[in-house]
Amino acid sequence: MKTKLGPQDILFPVPAALIVSGTMDKPNIVTVAWIGMISCVPPVLGIGIHKSRHSYKLIKKFREFSVNIPPADKYKEVDYCGIISGRDRNKFKDANLTPVKSGKIKTPIIKECPFNLECKLVKTLEVSEHTLFLGEILETHIDSDKVKNKTPQGINIDKVNPLVYFPTIRQYRKIGKRIGKSFNACLELKDK
Ligand SMILES: Cc1cc2nc3c(=O)[nH]c(=O)nc-3n(C[C@H](O)[C@H](O)[C@H](O)COP(=O)(O)O)c2cc1C
Repeated sequence: MKTKLGPQDILFPVPAALIVSGTMDKPNIVTVAWIGMISCVPPVLGIGIHKSRHSYKLIKKFREFSVNIPPADKYKEVDYCGIISGRDRNKFKDANLTPVKSGKIKTPIIKECPFNLECKLVKTLEVSEHTLFLGEILETHIDSDKVKNKTPQGINIDKVNPLVYFPTIRQYRKIGKRIGKSFNACLELKDK
């Protein structure tokens, strides 16, 4: 038996990503749970931003943003960037986070986040009160001590320790243990 909950904006788990917009001299951070990879060649991701956010204006103005994946132990800072507006406060300063120059865009990345993506705005889709910003990924950064052989496959996800979020029930969590290998775990079933 299933319980119907009606149309809901719940999808889980999701990252609680920190999106930076603006420039090195006046950057802003916003916490975003509505984020996902959309396409791979070239790599494009989408973020859903409410029109009331200060970040909405900055992304429209500068047409670029960085995506920063925080480690699990930074959940308080992530929460702060998700309730305070950059219109009123400097969230980098308040949350003790450090803007670091990007390579391909003018918007900085966050030093304390182990994984960062530099994105150029390529499309904007007005959905309702939220807007879908599609960003082409121009560069990917990872802390050097969390990757082997400088390859995406060499990423040590336990060391990255990304924060995981459960919207609506409003829980921050850590990742659990690896239980299988994708595109491979099915083989046992296939060969039955
Ligand atoms: C865990 C979490 C997830 C959030 N996800 C989103 C989101 O996906 N899109 C959005 O527009 N706002 C989201 N918010 C709300 C914004 O982060 C919040 O309104 C923020 O203060 C806006 O900052 P700004 O005005 O500096 O842009 C989220 C907040 C939290 C705490």
